[in-house]
Amino acid sequence: MKTPEFSFQGITRRFRSGNDDEFVALESVSLDIDSGSFVCFIGPSGCGKTTLLNMSAGLLAPSDGAVHFRGAPLNGVNTGVGFITQHDNLLPWRTVEKNVGIALEIEKVPRAERRLRVAEVIELVGLKGFAHQYPSQLSGGMQKRASLARGLVYGPSTLLMDEPFGALDAQLRFSMQNELLRIWERDRKTIIFVTHDLDEAILLADKIVVFGTRPGRVVHVEDVPLERPRDFAELRLSPVYGAIWERLWKLLENSEEAP
Ligand SMILES: Nc1ncnc2c1ncn2[C@@H]1O[C@H](COP(=O)(O)OP(=O)(O)OP(=O)(O)O)[C@@H](O)[C@H]1O
Ligand SMILES: [Mg+2]
Repeated sequence: MKTPEFSFQGITRRFRSGNDDEFVALESVSLDIDSGSFVCFIGPSGCGKTTLLNMSAGLLAPSDGAVHFRGAPLNGVNTGVGFITQHDNLLPWRTVEKNVGIALEIEKVPRAERRLRVAEVIELVGLKGFAHQYPSQLSGGMQKRASLARGLVYGPSTLLMDEPFGALDAQLRFSMQNELLRIWERDRKTIIFVTHDLDEAILLADKIVVFGTRPGRVVHVEDVPLERPRDFAELRLSPVYGAIWERLWKLLENSEEAP
């Protein structure tokens, strides 16, 4: 069997809350993410989705259990992934172009190649013409697109994306979803994508992991056997789509209750 890209093995994560009590953010999460698959995490606010992504990026250690990345235990920052975080971390003193190119600068990619790759990805996310603006001069959605460009620019084979399209208007969101699928189909990346939007999850994913709260845990894993490439307008009318939607909607409705 192929080694999974990620293997989460009995992950529990506790945090200290105010009066020295321990708060369980995630409990006993065991899950494999196949290499080359598109996996969506969905679940109510506070169920530990970002916490699990932080662990996948090696920015946070589990209290119990282990994260394996491509077969090896992860014990520090995971340099094999691109992480598009929930909150943009654009550097305010750098222009869009300079923010997007940071990873390439660190990698010492020659200036001419850097320029080209940065320009390409800026165009991809629809920010052409804004390369020389500073983050404070951009709308929220544009800042989101700039961080997306920054995550894509060095072409990591694994992407962790935390609600990347949440702040975008419907039209742009639609074109970014299509663009992401195109990149994924072309390069066969592994993508873990967090969303609150059930339609978005079904349209994008091979597999949807549904989380519940108190404590944060995996309540269900749904395979999405819809054909690719997917025509978003047509899919919504398919009975398979409808059945998945209804099943997951019920789970999400109940996911805030204790098991
Ligand atoms: N560093 C931390 N210290 C203390 N508590 C934390 C920390 N990080 C996360 N938590 C808590 O863990 C729980 C899970 O947080 P997390 O950010 O993973 O949720 P989420 O599923 O991503 O929610 P959202 O959908 O709102 O982004 C929350 O109750 C949060 O307050
Ligand atoms: Mg989150």
